[in-house]
Amino acid sequence: MTNATLERPTKKRFAAPFGSRAAKAGDPFADAPAKGAAADGAVADGSVAAETVGGVAQAVSYAPRVQERAARRVEDGAQLAAPAGKAADAPAKMGVRGLNLYYKDFHALKNIDLEFPVNQVTALIGPSGCGKSTLLKSLNRMNDLVEGCRIEGEITLDGQDAYRSIDVNSLRRRVGMVFQQPNPFPMSVYDNVAFGPRTHGIKKRDQLDEIVEQSLRDAAIWDELKDRLKKNALGLSGGQQQRLCIARALAVRPEVLLMDESTSALDPISTAKIEELVGQLKQKYTVIMVTHNMLQALRVSDKTAFFLLGEMVEAGDTDDIFTNPHDSRTADYVAGRFG
Ligand SMILES: Nc1ncnc2c1ncn2[C@@H]1O[C@H](COP(=O)(O)OP(=O)(O)OP(=O)(O)O)[C@@H](O)[C@H]1O
Ligand SMILES: [Mg+2]
Repeated sequence: MTNATLERPTKKRFAAPFGSRAAKAGDPFADAPAKGAAADGAVADGSVAAETVGGVAQAVSYAPRVQERAARRVEDGAQLAAPAGKAADAPAKMGVRGLNLYYKDFHALKNIDLEFPVNQVTALIGPSGCGKSTLLKSLNRMNDLVEGCRIEGEITLDGQDAYRSIDVNSLRRRVGMVFQQPNPFPMSVYDNVAFGPRTHGIKKRDQLDEIVEQSLRDAAIWDELKDRLKKNALGLSGGQQQRLCIARALAVRPEVLLMDESTSALDPISTAKIEELVGQLKQKYTVIMVTHNMLQALRVSDKTAFFLLGEMVEAGDTDDIFTNPHDSRTADYVAGRFG
C-alpha cells in the first residue's frame, strides 16, 4: 500500500541548475558573504578542514586536491568539453522542483530545487538529520513505505514525472539504491545478483550467467568472487558484501544509482575500492551519493549540494563548493566548523 502522496506545488518554482549557484532567497542568513568572501580565509584561499585519521584530527588542505582533480580531468580529456578544468554541465538525468516533504507534521525537506546531471556523480552533504537520506529515498519512492509521509512538488527522471508518469516498479528498477550497511540476502553470491533479474522474469540460465558476471565485473569484484559464486554471501567480508550489493543493484540495469553513505561502515582499503568504482560507474550511470566524508566528496563527485535543517543551502561544482562557496554556512561546514 502506498502511504506517501505527491501533491503539485501551489506555486511553480524553477529548478536551480548547478551552473547558477546562488544562495537561496529568503535566507535567514541574508547577509551571507558574496562569492569569494564566504569564508574567513580558511576555505576561500585553499581550505583547511579537520580529517580524523586513526583517531587523530589532522589539518587537511582542499586546494591541492582540487588541483589534482583538474589534472585528472585534463588527462581524461574532459578539458575539451569544459574550460578551466571544470566538468561540463551535462543535461539533468533527474530533477527535483519545489520539493517539500513532511513526516506527519514535521517538515523534513523545504522547497528543494536541484538537478542531477547525467553520467556525473553528485554528492549530498550536510550534518546529521538535515534530510539527505530523505531526499535520496524520495528519488526512487522508498518514502512511499513510510506512514504519514507526504510529498509536494515534482521529481523527474528523463523529464518524466517519477510519481505520476512512471510505474513505481519501473522507477525502482531504473533508480537503484545501495545502503550504508551491506545487506546481502542470506543466499549464494550468484543468487544475490540474479535475484533482481529473476524478479523481472529472466529465467534462462545462460542469460542469468551473463548478467551475474557482467554485474560483478562492473562492481569490481568478479576476480575475487568468480570461484565462490555458490558460497553464501554472508561469509564475505564487509567490503566484499558492499560491492556485492552494488553488483546486485547493477544487475537490473539501472540508470541512476543512489548510494547512502555506502562506505561509512568499511575499512579504508574497501572504501578506496568503492570510490574508484564510483569513478568508473559514472560512465554508464548517474550516481547520487550521500557522504559525511568531505574528502570523499572531493575525490569522487563532480557536483555537491549542501543541506542544512531540511533546506538546500547551496549546490554547484564540487571544486567551487569546497574552495569558494557562496554561503558562509557552507564554508563553515566544509571547513569542519560544525556538523
Ligand atoms: N520515517 C520517519 N518518520 C519521522 N521522521 C523521520 C523519518 N525519517 C527521517 N525523519 C526525520 O527527518 C529528518 C531528516 O532525516 P534524514 O534521515 O533524511 O537525515 P540525514 O541527513 O540522512 O541524517 P544522517 O546524516 O544522520 O543520516 C530527521 O529529523 C529525522 O528524524
Ligand atoms: Mg542519512
